[in-house]
Amino acid sequence: MTAASAPGKCILFGEHAVVYGQPAIAVAIEQRCEVKIEETNTENWIIDGLNYLPEKHPHVEGLRNRLWFQGPSLKLNIISEVPAGSGLGSSAALSIALAAAMRAKKGRRVGIDGSWHEGYSSEINQTDAYSDNLQKTDPGSICIGGKKLFGIDAIDSDELGILGHAVEAASQGGRASPTDTAAVSLGGAVLVSDKREESAEWQYSRNLNTPEGERKWEVHKISLPESFDEVSLVIGDTGVHAPTGDMVAGVAELLQKNPEKMQEIVAIGKLVRRATIAMKDGDLQALGNAMTENHLLLRGLGVSHPKLENLIKAAAPYSLGVKLTGAGGGGCMIALTTQPKTVSQAIEMAGGTAYVSKLGAGGVHLHE
Ligand code: PMV
Repeated sequence: MTAASAPGKCILFGEHAVVYGQPAIAVAIEQRCEVKIEETNTENWIIDGLNYLPEKHPHVEGLRNRLWFQGPSLKLNIISEVPAGSGLGSSAALSIALAAAMRAKKGRRVGIDGSWHEGYSSEINQTDAYSDNLQKTDPGSICIGGKKLFGIDAIDSDELGILGHAVEAASQGGRASPTDTAAVSLGGAVLVSDKREESAEWQYSRNLNTPEGERKWEVHKISLPESFDEVSLVIGDTGVHAPTGDMVAGVAELLQKNPEKMQEIVAIGKLVRRATIAMKDGDLQALGNAMTENHLLLRGLGVSHPKLENLIKAAAPYSLGVKLTGAGGGGCMIALTTQPKTVSQAIEMAGGTAYVSKLGAGGVHLHE
């Protein structure tokens, strides 16, 4: 059996504005999704004891087509602490953990010099994980000599990020920013922008052909100083599900009717750049203030919800900063606080479900 896990994520700053090219910051959270895989001699794949239905599991299907198009059926076991459909990156966590387990088990053929003879990378372009016409051939099979690596030696975080982003995009009608998959695979804190930002450590670029045209993102890491150990993130789930696509479409309509609202999008971008500096400096109060300010701007874009406002009001007196996280319209809010127990209780008393995490948990991890 091979097992891997990956964390969920929270958007700290910049949701919605990121759709218009502004930067956004996301952190990996402690709640994780673990996937175990083993080969089975049944004809069908099996997920959690049930027959696998591709239409029910588009991310699994996307990875099967890219990584496991040959070979025996797999039996998958998924244990997730990341609530689904709440904007906490549950599908990204599943995709990245499964991609890691599959690659570790399948292995990777490399040449004598260590060069890859199979796999996806931003440095090689003869294989394209984003293509609709996947070439289901294994370049490794025509390689003479070399060797096959398995387990941790076969895993590459760039490849996992590409695969995760490609299957997220494929299952979301061709639209997905790499924010979730970058946070989940790299762990820690990531900054995603349409240009390289001086204030953070650039990692890689991602391009995607979306229905609205070619999009490009630059993915960076932000190193968190030690002072972050003093604070927690408390996540409050309203239990209200609002599809991300509908919320994004709502903002687009608002901007079309009121073009002056674009100033708020630009203001969010400026705030994110300010927050990046506060994060690097470990200035927790400045960070909290920026979160609350970001929430007010999001509220102005019409993406809050009475239940979010309730949880935010309950958490605010014991927090450095509070805001909704992700698409809004329901979903989750977050509070930056040194009193996680008190804030959790306040959230639960106000009718939400609370989760506590440190900021910037570890990324994808192979267990067995
Ligand atoms: O669906 P979530 O909660 O992961 O967040 C979506 C973030 C948006 O900025 C609203 C949309 C996007 O594609 O970035």
